[in-house]
Amino acid sequence: MAQMTATVRAIETPVPFAGPEISIVVPTLNEADNIKVLYDALCDCLAAEHWELIVVDDDSSDDTVRIVREIAARDHRVRCLRRIGRRGLSGAVIEGILSSSAFAVAVMDADLQHDERLLPRLIAEIRGGADIAIGSRHIGGGSASQGFSRWRQLASNVATDAARRLLGVAVSDPMSGFFAVRRSTADLVIPQLSAQGFKVLLDLLVSARDTLKVVELPYAFRPRHRGLSKLDSGVALDFFSLIVAKASGDRISSRFLAFGLVGVTGLGVHLAALSALLSHTSAPFDVAQVLAAFVAMTWNFSVNNSFTYRDRRLSGMAWFWGLATFYAVCGIGAIANVGVASWVYGNEPIWWLAGAAGAIMGAVFNYAVTASVTWRRS
Ligand code: GDD
Ligand code: MN
Repeated sequence: MAQMTATVRAIETPVPFAGPEISIVVPTLNEADNIKVLYDALCDCLAAEHWELIVVDDDSSDDTVRIVREIAARDHRVRCLRRIGRRGLSGAVIEGILSSSAFAVAVMDADLQHDERLLPRLIAEIRGGADIAIGSRHIGGGSASQGFSRWRQLASNVATDAARRLLGVAVSDPMSGFFAVRRSTADLVIPQLSAQGFKVLLDLLVSARDTLKVVELPYAFRPRHRGLSKLDSGVALDFFSLIVAKASGDRISSRFLAFGLVGVTGLGVHLAALSALLSHTSAPFDVAQVLAAFVAMTWNFSVNNSFTYRDRRLSGMAWFWGLATFYAVCGIGAIANVGVASWVYGNEPIWWLAGAAGAIMGAVFNYAVTASVTWRRS
């Protein structure tokens, strides 16, 4: 009993330092030349605020972590969350937000493309009752042209348009990586978000549907301070699968979709290999078919490893071991495929229905089993 009273009193006792009101979450991947500049800029523009900086680093190979730790040694408002064996902008941002206890969390890039001078106003919007306040390049007074190459801007416009039409998102810049969110709102929505990919804001807006009060404030997207963009062509695949996942009400996971798309390319590879083997070698059909299947499986494995599972990418010896398990799982998947197809055909002799049922069964089996065997979380 005495102990219980003590526990209650400990929480009610005023503590000498109250926690920060605002957390700035910054995902980093090799941003050693930018992070100190960003920190200095934050110190200037947030002088009137009670803030902290959370850098979420995916094990950068440059000096990013060392530099953040140096800053943190002198400034208790700064901390570094170093993630090992994981990759991905969305996952990093989500973990950063989850590690905050502040009333409002702002997310921004490390490369100074986002104008930090907008932060006080984004935060003021949250204080004024908004759930999410977005730094937008696409409303009056905002611009994107300085910060993007022409083709990147075109891609960004197409993606923005697709998101707005297909997902019914009303905001002008759902692809923004610059926004503030009320932490209670984030806590509510985060369990529904995908840690894959790079579109945290879009995911946040779609998952929460119409229940949120969202405001947008314009800013000019600046050129990157130093270094190169970290987003490669894989983001197009991510983006497409996020759209399908969200449009299907999360019934089709974005990873399964990517896996399925890779599977379709694998069919093309299989046929190309089969035709090459039949025309250039004297291999009998059965042998050529088996060889072509191995070519296609190897293709599927390496493409899935590079794209679908880039956050868990296998390399070195693990790559070969992964390939071996992939062959094994697909072998069993093929048996499941034929089993289901024959069963359907036995009941309903419609060749395409039976064939498709078998193929879908095989794909679902391969996906489910390789997710936990080949690319299991370490
Ligand atoms: N932790 C972590 N892990 N950080 C990452 C990763 C990752 O896998 N990939 C990128 N980052 C960090 C970068 O270090 C940078 O601070 C920030 O995320 C944005 O990455 P950039 O490489 O600068 O992206 P961008 O400028 O091409 O794209 C930006 O603008 C887009 C506008 O359409 C990003 O803000 C996108 O989210 C945004 O959609
Ligand atoms: Mn950038």
